[in-house]
Amino acid sequence: MLSKLFLLFENIALFSVIFLQLKPTIADSNNIIIRCIDEEREALLTFKQSLVDEHGVLSSWGREDDKRDCCKWRGVHCSNTTGHVKVLNLRTSDYDFARRKFLKGTISPALLKLYDLRHLDLSNNDFGGSPVPEFIGSLSKLRYLSLSCGGPLELPRKFRNHSRLEYLNLENSCLFSVGSLEWLSRLSSLRHLDPSYINLAKSSDWFQVVAKLHSLKSLVLCSCALPPVNPSFIWHFNLSTSIETLDLSDNNLPSSSVYPWLFNLSRNILYLNLGSNSLRGSIPEAFQHMVSLKSLHLCDSELEGGIPKFFGNMCSLQKLGLSQNKLSGQFSQIIQNLSCGCVVNSLEGLYLGWNNFTGPIPHLGGFSSLEALSLEVNRLNGTIGTSLSQLSKLEFLSLDGNSFTGVISETFFSNMSNLQMLFLADNSLALKLSHNWVPLFQLKWLSLASCKMGPHFPKWLQTQNQLVHLDISNVGITDIIPDWFWDLSSKLSYLNLSNNHIKGRLPDLSLRFDGTRIGGTSIDINSNHFEGSIPPLPSNSPFLNLSKNKFSGSMGFLNNIRTLNLHNNRLTGELPSSLRNCSQLRVLDLGKNAFFGEIPTWIGESLQNLIVLSLKSNKLHANIPYQLCHLGLIQVLDLSFNIISGKIPKCFNNFSAMTYERCSNPTIGFGKCIFVSPGTVYYYKYLNNLLLTWKGSENEYKSTLGLVRCLDLSSNKLDGAIPEEIMDLVGLIALNLSRNNLTGPITPKIGELTSLDFLDLSRNLFSGSIPSSLSQLSGLGVLDLSYNNLSGKIPLGTQLQSFNASVYAGNLELCGLPLANKCPNEESTPSPGTDDYSDALEDEDD
Ligand SMILES: *[C@@H]1O[C@H](CO)[C@@H](O)[C@H](O)[C@H]1NC(C)=O
Ligand SMILES: *[C@@H]1O[C@H](CO)[C@@H](O)[C@H](O)[C@H]1NC(C)=O
Ligand SMILES: *[C@@H]1O[C@H](CO)[C@@H](O)[C@H](O)[C@H]1NC(C)=O
Ligand SMILES: *[C@@H]1O[C@H](CO)[C@@H](O)[C@H](O)[C@H]1NC(C)=O
Ligand SMILES: *[C@@H]1O[C@H](CO)[C@@H](O)[C@H](O)[C@H]1NC(C)=O
Ligand SMILES: *[C@@H]1O[C@H](CO)[C@@H](O)[C@H](O)[C@H]1NC(C)=O
Ligand SMILES: *[C@@H]1O[C@H](CO)[C@@H](O)[C@H](O)[C@H]1NC(C)=O
Ligand SMILES: *[C@@H]1O[C@H](CO)[C@@H](O)[C@H](O)[C@H]1NC(C)=O
Ligand SMILES: *[C@@H]1O[C@H](CO)[C@@H](O)[C@H](O)[C@H]1NC(C)=O
Ligand SMILES: *[C@@H]1O[C@H](CO)[C@@H](O)[C@H](O)[C@H]1NC(C)=O
Ligand SMILES: *[C@@H]1O[C@H](CO)[C@@H](O)[C@H](O)[C@H]1NC(C)=O
Ligand SMILES: *[C@@H]1O[C@H](CO)[C@@H](O)[C@H](O)[C@H]1NC(C)=O
Repeated sequence: MLSKLFLLFENIALFSVIFLQLKPTIADSNNIIIRCIDEEREALLTFKQSLVDEHGVLSSWGREDDKRDCCKWRGVHCSNTTGHVKVLNLRTSDYDFARRKFLKGTISPALLKLYDLRHLDLSNNDFGGSPVPEFIGSLSKLRYLSLSCGGPLELPRKFRNHSRLEYLNLENSCLFSVGSLEWLSRLSSLRHLDPSYINLAKSSDWFQVVAKLHSLKSLVLCSCALPPVNPSFIWHFNLSTSIETLDLSDNNLPSSSVYPWLFNLSRNILYLNLGSNSLRGSIPEAFQHMVSLKSLHLCDSELEGGIPKFFGNMCSLQKLGLSQNKLSGQFSQIIQNLSCGCVVNSLEGLYLGWNNFTGPIPHLGGFSSLEALSLEVNRLNGTIGTSLSQLSKLEFLSLDGNSFTGVISETFFSNMSNLQMLFLADNSLALKLSHNWVPLFQLKWLSLASCKMGPHFPKWLQTQNQLVHLDISNVGITDIIPDWFWDLSSKLSYLNLSNNHIKGRLPDLSLRFDGTRIGGTSIDINSNHFEGSIPPLPSNSPFLNLSKNKFSGSMGFLNNIRTLNLHNNRLTGELPSSLRNCSQLRVLDLGKNAFFGEIPTWIGESLQNLIVLSLKSNKLHANIPYQLCHLGLIQVLDLSFNIISGKIPKCFNNFSAMTYERCSNPTIGFGKCIFVSPGTVYYYKYLNNLLLTWKGSENEYKSTLGLVRCLDLSSNKLDGAIPEEIMDLVGLIALNLSRNNLTGPITPKIGELTSLDFLDLSRNLFSGSIPSSLSQLSGLGVLDLSYNNLSGKIPLGTQLQSFNASVYAGNLELCGLPLANKCPNEESTPSPGTDDYSDALEDEDD
């Protein structure tokens, strides 16, 4: 955790892209013959009135031309024979949800007038944390219900005997904490149950409840913090054998909570996802009884050993995901095991990345259906010449992070006409491709980082005009960028040219990239020899790293930029006021430059979407303006290493994103191991050991960043006391106030910062005693109180004594363990585990 945190302090803007399939939203149909029923139209309008629709989601509702036919309104679908409203789908897409474009208000009971409503989807909206309204239980024809509400999760009593409901989706945020699920067990018709992301840690009866749902075909309990199954339940309840889809991913379940009942489901199961749990040991032989299995997903666990032979005989298996485990063995033997049976013909996706496989890749020509092969980050070596070149269906090939050697030529790709995604980064590979090569493939994703392919700019890229992601960083290009290259850029969402020796000036990039494309383009060109002034950049760019170049001057306008990283350049002057218009900024890193002047008040006033702000290591002076407190979404605020003076404003408790405690973030394992299915393009990337899934920022609220809340004001000239208001920031994981001139006692309220992992108050003028509440911070991994004027006894409790004595050094009047100097009244009370204790033993022996 800590190393990640430190990385985060350093490299604040983490970046990664993931494109997810959006949940289907039902499109408006245009061939409606029968018009809606007057009473139902009125009911819908009443329902609309109780909503707050700031973004005009329901603008089609009641518009003059459609006034009579509510069946044409957005999200409304009627029966084409009776005209009754059957479907009401007001789900907000994940994309709009991340932009807070959702409905608010309350759910009106007018819905009861929709006599024939079968399908109700109100998910991803904000009904103010209210519980599911009681009247929903009276919608007796409902078969499909998808809700998201922030309140206590318990369906209305009337609902509990709802025998017709087949589909229940309660997927939601981690705000929930739910107790017994007993109320679910009577929804006897349920075929699909998905409470993903709801915290079920207290639902110890989940297994027994789910076992009563005899019609279940699909059970999705992803990221629910599921408690381990009580062993006695395992013997007394069988899960429905009609289950075809089972997803228990990201629950940290041990093998003992899964295996004993899992293999009862054998015959019918088609799709099984147990990824991101704590499965240990070797892969159990019992999987071989799941003869229908099409897709098995055991990624991100602690499985060891090899890949057993029985997989070779699983004739239906199309996808096998074992990435991110501790599997090992000679890769050639793995392939031998799999080649012994029919799976060679069925296997379409083989995901074995992030394991410990060794040796070269043997000939894989037999796997004629293979569309995706993922072997990244193993210990594979040798050349990859002919072993893969017959895989003509291959769309996805990921070999990065191994020790492959040799030269890859055009022949390697000569049968790969379907290739869409190619990862060869971080090996010792060289690419020798002729100047006029025209590949058969059209790549969407290309990552060749650290392959040798300079010094010229690769001309064949000119044929690749579908590229969405291009990483040719650190490949030894010393050229200038040819003009045609910028013609490829309109579709790019990620461009990494960093760590080359590329020369010249940049053209007006705002004209070359499509400034209207959703998500924009992330551009990393750090560490090159670009010169001249920074050109106008695409206004919707979510991420820019222009650091370590020879740019001078400052910058243009990027009104839609979300992430701006200008860390470590030679930028100087006052903070550029052109940033003022960048109201979409989420991440702003201007650290390690030579900006001077005051922290402008407009940062707080105009950049209210900021999640990360780093002004670290500049020459900013004067006070922290109170306007900064308008940054209610801020999670990382780093003002360290400046010459900021005055008092810490009392209003830091307005940083509301820091005021709630860290919840078990549901999506921390999310995306670690994703099936890259042809057609739906899933992109993923690791950075700094932390995964931040970011679909053009789509998933920002569900990202790992959600876990990180840091406040760093260290190495400034702040004085006065720590305002009590800081103690409201109970979500803080790291607090660094060191190297200032702060005074006064450390308030006992510090014990309220229960999420703290890192606390540094060293080198200030704090006085008084160490509050005993500090010893309650059980998660504290790093503490530094050294070089203050603290006095008295270090409070007892395992926590504070477990730190090294240096944590308390330089406080002359501090005493007690782990310091050597004893407190005046303590001379004769030795504690266990110290020298004093062994002294005492010796005394006894005497
Ligand atoms: C930007 O590039 C610099 C190297 O020039 C690097 O130190 C920094 O971590 C990069 N920032 C991000 C967010 O990637
Ligand atoms: C009504 O809808 C059903 C199911 O969508 C469809 O099969 C049928 O053809 C439709 N009837 C008319 C008259 O459009
Ligand atoms: C639900 O069903 C149970 C048992 O079938 C019955 O005892 C109970 O009264 C019913 N509750 C409601 C609210 O209908
Ligand atoms: C579970 O299934 C087994 C085998 O079908 C059966 O013998 C046993 O009685 C079942 N247990 C329960 C509690 O239904
Ligand atoms: C289900 O599991 C139980 C306990 O492991 C076992 O006794 C029973 O035979 C299994 N049933 C089937 C159908 O495999
Ligand atoms: C091959 O399969 C056998 C039998 O299942 C297994 O014991 C062995 O570990 C496998 N070898 C490798 C390299 O995975
Ligand atoms: C990989 O295997 C080597 C030696 O067999 C071992 O030292 C290392 O810890 C393993 N790595 C992982 C990630 O399991
Ligand atoms: C691959 O690595 C192994 C050690 O893990 C080594 O013995 C072998 O010589 C290497 N093979 C090649 C072709 O580099
Ligand atoms: C391409 O496929 C054909 C037909 O399967 C095969 O004969 C040829 O060797 C393949 N080319 C390479 C370079 O493997
Ligand atoms: C760009 O590539 C460099 C070197 O391969 C890497 O360190 C950096 O993280 C990449 N930048 C981004 C934004 O992914
Ligand atoms: C900022 O926005 C204002 C109002 O939209 C506009 O007048 C001004 O020119 C913009 N400034 C910059 C630097 O883009
Ligand atoms: C703290 O204050 C003293 C004098 O009051 C001053 O000499 C010292 O430089 C200050 N230190 C910092 C870090 O501002």
